Amino acid sequence: MKRIAIIGGGGYTSSELLRLLVGHPHFEVVRITSRSNSGRRVSEVHPFLESLIDLSFEENEPNLVTRDVDLVFLALPHGVTASFVKAIGPTEVPLVDLSGDFRLNDPSTHNHTYPETPLLSDLRNEFVYGLPELFRDQIRKAKNVACPGCFATGAILALAPFADANLITGSPIVDGKTGSSGSGASASSTTHHPERVERFSAYGALTHRHAPEIHQALNELQSDLKPITFVPHSTPMVRGIYTTAYIDNRNHKLSPEAAREKIADFYQDETFIRLRPSPSDCGVVARTNFADLWATSNNEVIVVTSAIDNLVKGAAGQAIQVANLIFDLPETSGLLFPGTRP
Ligand SMILES: NC(=O)c1ccc[n+]([C@@H]2O[C@H](COP(=O)([O-])OP(=O)(O)OC[C@H]3O[C@@H](n4cnc5c(N)ncnc54)[C@H](OP(=O)(O)O)[C@@H]3O)[C@@H](O)[C@H]2O)c1
Repeated sequence: MKRIAIIGGGGYTSSELLRLLVGHPHFEVVRITSRSNSGRRVSEVHPFLESLIDLSFEENEPNLVTRDVDLVFLALPHGVTASFVKAIGPTEVPLVDLSGDFRLNDPSTHNHTYPETPLLSDLRNEFVYGLPELFRDQIRKAKNVACPGCFATGAILALAPFADANLITGSPIVDGKTGSSGSGASASSTTHHPERVERFSAYGALTHRHAPEIHQALNELQSDLKPITFVPHSTPMVRGIYTTAYIDNRNHKLSPEAAREKIADFYQDETFIRLRPSPSDCGVVARTNFADLWATSNNEVIVVTSAIDNLVKGAAGQAIQVANLIFDLPETSGLLFPGTRP
């Protein structure tokens, strides 16, 4: 068994890592840290784990987190993570980070997007962008991995088959919708249930931090890609990222069948990507590591939809998929289970 540590253990992505790792055949969580819960039992904070995990939270001590473990998942906020990684110091233990601190390669794009996070160029160069369906070989050889953002995962998976075929002309338009768990466990006026439950609005239009990483990843497939037009929306669902992407079809005139064939061909060997016969649905992928895609078109536009669970394929599930690759384990280990109905 590989010995796993989780840092930032009181949050939503950590609770999802714990849920998924309880059933993992090759990983065992042996350390979990938390500033606010140090000394408490894990099942006290995450009650659904009662009788399934026998562990207490430790202090968030950077110099101790890598001791006697084979891999560390970092589930801290952006801004906090980079300083924490610096404080860990040199280590051979792979770090799999869920924050945005090490996702962007270009220094000026990083400084503009995450001004609160120091660049730390040497450390940054040790991180590979962790979207397995696109960067599997790099992840296998990586020292450390920066997992994609949840919006970015949904958007990149929707557009990649078309970028790979150089079919994206102009700025692709990406309309993202997130559930409230995307903002983490601490309630604010925009995430508190009574405030949120009957609301649905756009936010961060054209300024959201995930747009540059969507562009960075797709640009590896289509080098002349224009910047992404990205508008996120906040919805009343708890889990889920729903993406609707629009690609100019006036030159290519791809039929709906041809658009769907592009997706089927590009992802033909991918277990976690499913091409649906009808528009993707967040309810179908909730609590799973699947990303469900669908496409249609007319002579003007190709429309692609994708649905993922933000905490699974958009965070903890994808991070475990990455860890499986790092240890050369079957990529689907511990992740191949269906959703629920209802
Ligand atoms: N939620 C999602 O859907 C999602 C998806 C993809 C990526 N992510 C990323 O994953 C990371 C964790 O997200 P989350 O949703 O789990 O957030 P969260 O529920 O707010 O949890 C973050 C945890 O970080 C710790 N923390 C907060 N401020 C800290 C500080 N100043 N110093 C040290 N520790 C601090 C807290 O843990 P303790 O008090 O327990 O120490 C907290 O429980 C973030 O970077 C987020 O952007 C989230």
